[in-house]
Amino acid sequence: MASNGAAAGAARKKLNGYVGFANLPNQVHRKSVRKGFTFTCMVVGESGLGKSTLINTLFNTRLYARKEVPPPHAERPKTVAIESISADIEENGVRLKLTVVDTPGFGDFINNDDSWKPIVDNIESRFDAYLEQENRVNRAKLLDNRVHACIYFIQPTGHSLRPIDIEFMRRLHQKVNLIPVIAKSDTLTDDEILSFKQRVLNDIAHHRIEIFHAPVYDNEDEETIAENEEIIRKIPFAVVGSDQEIDTADGRRVRGRAYPWGVIEVDNEAHCDFVKLRQMLIRSHMEELKEHTHDALYEKYRSEKLVAMGVTQDQSVFKEVNPAAKMAEDRALHEAKLAKMENEMKLVFQQKVAEKEAKLKQSEEELYARHREMRDALEKQRMELEDKKRRLESGRPLTPEKQNQSYQQATKKKGGFLRN
Ligand code: GTP
Repeated sequence: MASNGAAAGAARKKLNGYVGFANLPNQVHRKSVRKGFTFTCMVVGESGLGKSTLINTLFNTRLYARKEVPPPHAERPKTVAIESISADIEENGVRLKLTVVDTPGFGDFINNDDSWKPIVDNIESRFDAYLEQENRVNRAKLLDNRVHACIYFIQPTGHSLRPIDIEFMRRLHQKVNLIPVIAKSDTLTDDEILSFKQRVLNDIAHHRIEIFHAPVYDNEDEETIAENEEIIRKIPFAVVGSDQEIDTADGRRVRGRAYPWGVIEVDNEAHCDFVKLRQMLIRSHMEELKEHTHDALYEKYRSEKLVAMGVTQDQSVFKEVNPAAKMAEDRALHEAKLAKMENEMKLVFQQKVAEKEAKLKQSEEELYARHREMRDALEKQRMELEDKKRRLESGRPLTPEKQNQSYQQATKKKGGFLRN
């Protein structure tokens, strides 16, 4: 088929002067700032891997109060508990409602077989809550409590992923944006980190686990593309967390961890990948994470759930409208309607004819009955008269009673005939 440029898509026209829609991004910006942002981040990893410290470091706030270290023999919870903390934070007039979902207890038991389950349940229940809001009649303001990112803390063993890591990621990767990080990476040397990262990536690829990758778009500027590629190269991020400020040997005050041999700076890209993680999570890809949660992860969950409930897509919605077919369909409908009306009229007519026939038959029978009655009466009268005549001719007079009886009968009949 010959392709027509105008029909295939809108033709690109040159403007003759300033119209103003170049200001659209600013409108969106102002609107977003006015509304504020929400972001829900989950942290999963064994106790003591530095989850709370990293969240405090990421958002530069004491979201988590300094925790008391439990005494050695203190009773530990027996299941994975889910706790969420929310805080409204503000930077340069932009408000962010940050919710951190913590999963204390994960991987802390002797048997960790089902450690992933309460976490999957929590993520799904958040999807359900959103789905329920979408199905309401009034859905003016949808509250989005879905988990937009899950930072998974890998123990800095230097070996490879453990079965619990693989099981968790396998169970979760299609429900949440997984961001694996190597916790407390300051406990490994640079070489150890490099080879550990490679083994982790091999395991992830081997088990076909999908982790979140910052998307690289061709139509973005070279600098952004290079930055995104750099972020991708750092996955899994080797992080160091610290909400303490310390003095360096050269007199700077930095967030970091002090060691006898020097200081590990959290915000120094030469020391760890914390900056890259923060860049992806907060500075460049927070919206991508939310979009992917909505468009891919939630959408998959939603459609699977609806299909399981027996809801199917109405295929006729997609049927192309053909005018000739539509006319033929309308005509057939009209003809069927006419035929139905004709049948109904025929039925009514037949019913009326039958009723009339029944009435005529009834009056005919009545007439016959009356005719028979009259004929019988006349016959009886004739016979009586003949009897009377015979008697008169034979000269035998009637007795007075007979005369009276005969007179009465004669007058009664006469009267009866007259009435009829
Ligand atoms: P739970 O709350 O028990 O789940 O622990 P958590 O994972 O939240 O760990 P938390 O942030 O409380 O840190 C535990 C200890 O590790 C603290 O003493 C932190 O100072 C320390 N820590 C946190 N991050 C790092 C890090 O990157 N490197 C090192 N070496 N220590 C860290």
